[in-house]
Amino acid sequence: MGPDQRRDPSAGVGPDQHRPRALDLVPGFEPANELERGLTRDPVLLEGLAWGEPRRGHPEGAVGAHVSDLLNTIDAWGETGERRLELRFISLVHDAMKGKVEYRLPRTGENHHAMRARRFAEAYADDERLLATIELHDRPYAIWRRSRKRTRDANERLAAMSERIPDLDLFLRFVELDGSTEGKNPEPVEWVRSELADRTGER
Ligand SMILES: [Fe+2]
Ligand SMILES: [Fe+2]
Repeated sequence: MGPDQRRDPSAGVGPDQHRPRALDLVPGFEPANELERGLTRDPVLLEGLAWGEPRRGHPEGAVGAHVSDLLNTIDAWGETGERRLELRFISLVHDAMKGKVEYRLPRTGENHHAMRARRFAEAYADDERLLATIELHDRPYAIWRRSRKRTRDANERLAAMSERIPDLDLFLRFVELDGSTEGKNPEPVEWVRSELADRTGER
């Protein structure tokens, strides 16, 4: 993982005592390393973890509760070492910019929550394996949704997506993790895993 460039901790929030702590927002959270410690002191991340109400596909409500589910699942799956830290970093950041999306504009390109999350993460990591996973984490679901109408289009889009991903194993593991929470349809994950099966074997 890359440099840990701290943002100005006083930006955009009031005095220290009014600031939520990561543990209040992500039940059970304990930083696993210095990177996580710095990340979870960032007011922009904390604001993002506090964002959200229970809704379709997200019965858990706030982003922080979803992240807590993912962190628990990472350990339940028995992930250890670097892979565990990578999945934790991606989990903490991937949905945390949903509240920054301009909902009156198209939710694409730089305005997509996943791209916003990538831009945020760039201040903390320079590993493209992590950044690409954050940026593209919802792409398989979007392609799967369209694939039911136009299969050929889906294959091209999947190919274009996987070209951008330096570590498909990490990517698929995270997509599976993100899709493992209550209220999510497992079908897109199974579909993308089988569509990309040949490619993962090659890398
Ligand atoms: Fe997402
Ligand atoms: Fe998510």
